Amino acid sequence: MGLVVARQTAGLHECEVVGNGPDAKGIFLLRMRAEGLSRALAPGQFVNVAVPGDATQILRVPLSCSGILPDEGLVEISYAVVGDGTRRLSEVPVGTSLGVVGPCGHGWGPIEGKALLVAGGIGAAPIVCEARRLGVEGVPFDAALGAQSAARLWGEAALARAGAGEVLVATDDGSAGIAGFATLAAERLLAKGGYSCVLCCGPQPLMAAVAGLAGKAGVPCLVSLERMMSCGFGACCTCNVSLVGGRQASCCMDGPVFDASEVVW
Ligand SMILES: Cc1cc2nc3c(=O)[nH]c(=O)nc-3n(C[C@H](O)[C@H](O)[C@H](O)COP(=O)(O)OP(=O)(O)OC[C@H]3O[C@@H](n4cnc5c(N)ncnc54)[C@H](O)[C@@H]3O)c2cc1C
Ligand code: FES
Repeated sequence: MGLVVARQTAGLHECEVVGNGPDAKGIFLLRMRAEGLSRALAPGQFVNVAVPGDATQILRVPLSCSGILPDEGLVEISYAVVGDGTRRLSEVPVGTSLGVVGPCGHGWGPIEGKALLVAGGIGAAPIVCEARRLGVEGVPFDAALGAQSAARLWGEAALARAGAGEVLVATDDGSAGIAGFATLAAERLLAKGGYSCVLCCGPQPLMAAVAGLAGKAGVPCLVSLERMMSCGFGACCTCNVSLVGGRQASCCMDGPVFDASEVVW
């Protein structure tokens, strides 16, 4: 299903922060003026961001883009604050210049037929980015979106605005949508049939479960995997992904999007 997309050579871009603030509980939206990057990025690819504020932290933070706006020269990143790097990123003021390496990895690739998009938590970032492209290209899609609670739910409005036929929300505590994991929402939509592919990003157990559901339904499935990353360009093996047949791939160069049937879950 057209998984492998020609990779743009990653470069270092100086990007001016034009917005950085809370968008949902624990989730921030970073908007950067990034003319060259906005023209080079494809949905599903990621960037490596150097976060200022601690000279001892030399590793960049890998983040997907949730919005690519080449006409405005803007790139949007939606990120959850989970540790020191993302906390420092959340404190970066407007006007700061960030060193951003990208575009990195492979994106979702061309999609034909009707797609089912499945996202859990901040895994919605690359899914929303793809939804925006599908909407522009007139490719029909539905979405299953999960979050811990209504307050942490991110992406529902953006998916609807992008043109989703249906957005089925699930929250762990039942405070929005159906009570349960995104898997439940995905299962209900898949049961309706008519999908030619499933695209999924979120916690590893969600992706593994969705890969299983799609496999059972005979629908090809792509997943955007997360791994710890050090170098970001295939040199350190930190981000290895085990594939069926004993092969190893690097998430940063061969992914982050993989054919779910090739991944050892
Ligand atoms: C290709 C890719 C795309 C990503 N896109 C997004 C995105 O769009 N939005 C978003 O919020 N996050 C995204 N992430 C995850 C993000 O990179 C991590 O949350 C971030 O690096 C944590 O850095 P930190 O310094 O704040 O936390 P740390 O202090 O380094 O770690 C805090 C916690 O996060 C875990 N963690 C650290 N790095 C990663 C990682 N690379 N993957 C998974 N868990 C990690 C640690 O194990 C620890 O539990 C992506 C990761 C990858 C590999
Ligand atoms: S992060 Fe070094 S090989 Fe992927």
